[in-house]
Amino acid sequence: MNKISRPDAGSTHRVVEPHILYFGTPVVLLSTVDADGAVNLAPISSAWALDRTVVLGLGPDGQTSRNLAAHPELVVNVPGPGLWRQVELLGGTTGRADAAHFVRDKFGHAGLTAQPAELVAPPRVVECPLQLEARVADLRADATGEFLVAEVQVLRVHAAESITVPGTDYVEPAAWSPLVYNFRHYFGLGPELGHSSRSRTPRTA
Ligand SMILES: Cc1cc2nc3c(=O)[nH]c(=O)nc-3n(C[C@H](O)[C@H](O)[C@H](O)COP(=O)(O)O)c2cc1C
Repeated sequence: MNKISRPDAGSTHRVVEPHILYFGTPVVLLSTVDADGAVNLAPISSAWALDRTVVLGLGPDGQTSRNLAAHPELVVNVPGPGLWRQVELLGGTTGRADAAHFVRDKFGHAGLTAQPAELVAPPRVVECPLQLEARVADLRADATGEFLVAEVQVLRVHAAESITVPGTDYVEPAAWSPLVYNFRHYFGLGPELGHSSRSRTPRTA
C-alpha cells in the first residue's frame, strides 16, 4: 500500500504561486509566412511531440499565430544551447508591423541564415541542427480562451550530420542537446543518466 502523508506531516514542500510554470521545455524557432509570403521567425517553448504531431501553445496576438491562420505551413526549427542569445534576442521582437518592437528581418536581426524548405513555404534555419517541416492540422483557442493551440503534422525531418548516427536515421542522443527554457533561464543538457528500454540507440560501451 502507498504511504500517504497528512498535509501537515512534514516541511519538505510549501504552497507557492510562481508567476510562470516553465519547468524546462526545449525551445523551438517557428518560421512562418504571411499571406504575402513575408517571413517571420519566433521562439516558442510550449512545444511537445507525439509521434509525427507537434503541439504548440501560442499567444493569440503574435504574428506567428496570424501567419499560421493565413498560411498553415511552418518549420519547427530546433536550436541547440549555443543559440540561446539569438533566441533571447528574437523573443524581444515581433513580426507585427503595428507593434513597437517590430522587426521585419528577424533572420538578419539575429544573425541567422535562411535556407529553403522542401515541402513548405517558410524557410529553415541553417544554424538549427533539427528542422521539422510541418503543416497545421488544427488551430483553436485553448479552454481559457487566452491562448491558441496548434497541432501540426510533421512532413519532413532534416538533421545535421553531426547529430545523427552515421548511416542510420537515428539522432545520436550523446551528440544532441536541446536548448531548455527552465523558469526563464536557458540550459543545455547535463551528462546522460541512462536510457529507456525503448531506446534504439543504447550505448554499448
Ligand atoms: C525562450 C522563449 C520562449 C517563448 N515561448 C513562447 C511560447 O511558448 N508561446 C508564445 O506564444 N510565445 C512565446 N515566447 C514569446 C514570443 O517569442 C514573443 O511573444 C514574440 O514577440 C512573438 O513574435 P511574433 O509576434 O513575431 O510571433 C517565448 C519567448 C522566448 C524568448
